Amino acid sequence: MTAPVTPVVVPGPGELAEAAASWTAERITRAVAERRACYLALAGGDTPRGCYDRLAQPPYRDTLPWSSVFVYWSDERQVPLDDPASNYAMAKAALLDHVPIPPEQVFPLVGDPTPALRRIPADAGGRPRFDVIQLGLGEDGHTASLFPGSPALREAEALVAYVHDAPKPPPERVTLTLPVINAARAVLFTVLGASKREALARVLRRDPALPASLVQPVDGELQFIVDRAAFGNS
Ligand code: 6PG
Repeated sequence: MTAPVTPVVVPGPGELAEAAASWTAERITRAVAERRACYLALAGGDTPRGCYDRLAQPPYRDTLPWSSVFVYWSDERQVPLDDPASNYAMAKAALLDHVPIPPEQVFPLVGDPTPALRRIPADAGGRPRFDVIQLGLGEDGHTASLFPGSPALREAEALVAYVHDAPKPPPERVTLTLPVINAARAVLFTVLGASKREALARVLRRDPALPASLVQPVDGELQFIVDRAAFGNS
């Protein structure tokens, strides 16, 4: 079992958005400085919206090297891209519509995302090596669209997996697989609210029964930014 993880604990949603935006901005800047590009996978769900809103405001909006950022998603719901349930639609409204990322550098997880993922420089094992992957946490310990007991958890070769019976609606989803997530240079979990307390505690203890515990970058950093309600000291 891997070593327990110590999270950054902040008072509430506002501070979490600020801390997540600052953490992400630092790594975008570093990736572009070192490799002239940043490959970023955005998380879905509600929790990351605050971070995206914050990145769309000064100073980040005006200072980050957005023209060198390539945007993907950690997972997507199989709904139209303009559907309110679409992770792409949420990030577009909160961030992409407000920063100068060239549209040809935005890759929603639709159709077969593999060719678009293969554009990302690979690690020694041939896997796309993201600079930053953002993830959330479900009350059942799922992350991206990797749910407890799902065959997608055992995917060792494919870059994405298709889910047809997700316990969280909508049931049809596509998700990055664990080998791709664990090939990243930096992975950030953001977690809000008391409803996540038990799952978070188990994931921080690296309980292997929960999919989010299986996120352990091979050669990269793992960070959790959580609020007091989720961490259990509110
Ligand atoms: C999704 C997400 C999912 C999400 C968690 C937490 O598409 O639903 O990718 O993994 O991150 O379910 O969701 P909330 O942030 O809305 O609590």
